[in-house]
Amino acid sequence: MKRLEGKAAVVTGGGGLVGGAFCRALAEHGANVLVNDIDAASAEQVAASIDAADGTASSLAGSVGSFADGERIVDACVERYGRIDCLVNCAGRAVAQPLVETTEADLMVALSSHVIGHFACARRAAQHMNRQGGGSIVNVVSRAMAGWRGHSAYGAAKGAILSATINWALELASAGIRVNAISPAARRYEAGEAFSMRMPWRPDPGRTVAEMRAQTPPPESVAPLAVYLASDASDWVSGQVIFLGGDSLALVRHPMEDRFAFRSEGWDVESIEQHFRHAFETAVEWPSMSAGPYRWFDGINP
Ligand SMILES: NC(=O)c1ccc[n+]([C@@H]2O[C@H](COP(=O)([O-])OP(=O)(O)OC[C@H]3O[C@@H](n4cnc5c(N)ncnc54)[C@H](O)[C@@H]3O)[C@@H](O)[C@H]2O)c1
Repeated sequence: MKRLEGKAAVVTGGGGLVGGAFCRALAEHGANVLVNDIDAASAEQVAASIDAADGTASSLAGSVGSFADGERIVDACVERYGRIDCLVNCAGRAVAQPLVETTEADLMVALSSHVIGHFACARRAAQHMNRQGGGSIVNVVSRAMAGWRGHSAYGAAKGAILSATINWALELASAGIRVNAISPAARRYEAGEAFSMRMPWRPDPGRTVAEMRAQTPPPESVAPLAVYLASDASDWVSGQVIFLGGDSLALVRHPMEDRFAFRSEGWDVESIEQHFRHAFETAVEWPSMSAGPYRWFDGINP
């Protein structure tokens, strides 16, 4: 019996690079898949490729950008397949602008396609899953939430999704609904182009983000994690953010306080200054996905 036999899944952004790979892998493992994308042609193409491989899928065009959209998409899965066991929130538009050039419209694109889209579909899926007695919600975040220069609207949207993931996991556990997030690394390869599964995203200050991206593995390599999180094999896994890129699988640390220091009388400016120089000096980290050494000990310079 296949791992996801009898289950129904929605993948938003399912016409895209990573979303398409998720759809095909979920269907290959037996799930009935509703492929949503704002781009009708790409959603249809992915659903057709699944049909051609003897899987079960159908497409639904439309945006995830409002609560009404989320209801329409998730309800369509329940109407077509009788239930929803897994929601994979993969839709989203990449927005690449430095802060001073970010327009309100750029920010709204990032927030509506990623944050509102995740909330809208998860909210409706959780209502159905609650009645069904459980399910799995899989969000998609990015290493940009840890700092990617020139991508703050995108990174902030992904940071919001990380926080939502943790909060939803806590809220929904009593209903048997698990919530996790995948932080993928994948890029499109042309036919015949060679790729390596060796993941170049490990801390390496000598490498630029562009160099790292050039060696990023193909989207199919990330899909097994979505299948695992949709399946009953991960029934004990919730509230986790998991990175997968090529040969590297990792848990993303929860954003919690670290390196506590205590001062019974409280902290004044002088004691904070001293503590930064003498204790935090060895703890501060370079805030970026390329994880270089901290460079600002002597101040930041224009
Ligand atoms: N490719 C990577 O390495 C990588 C890394 C980190 C995170 N991600 C995330 O993975 C997800 C997929 O990325 P991708 O690389 O496959 O990009 P992609 O552009 O190929 O796929 C995104 C899909 O979402 C669709 N979409 C955009 N806005 C939408 C909306 N409002 N409603 C419905 N669909 C919408 C697009 O049409 C597209 O098909 C995104 O959330 C992205 O942020 C990707």
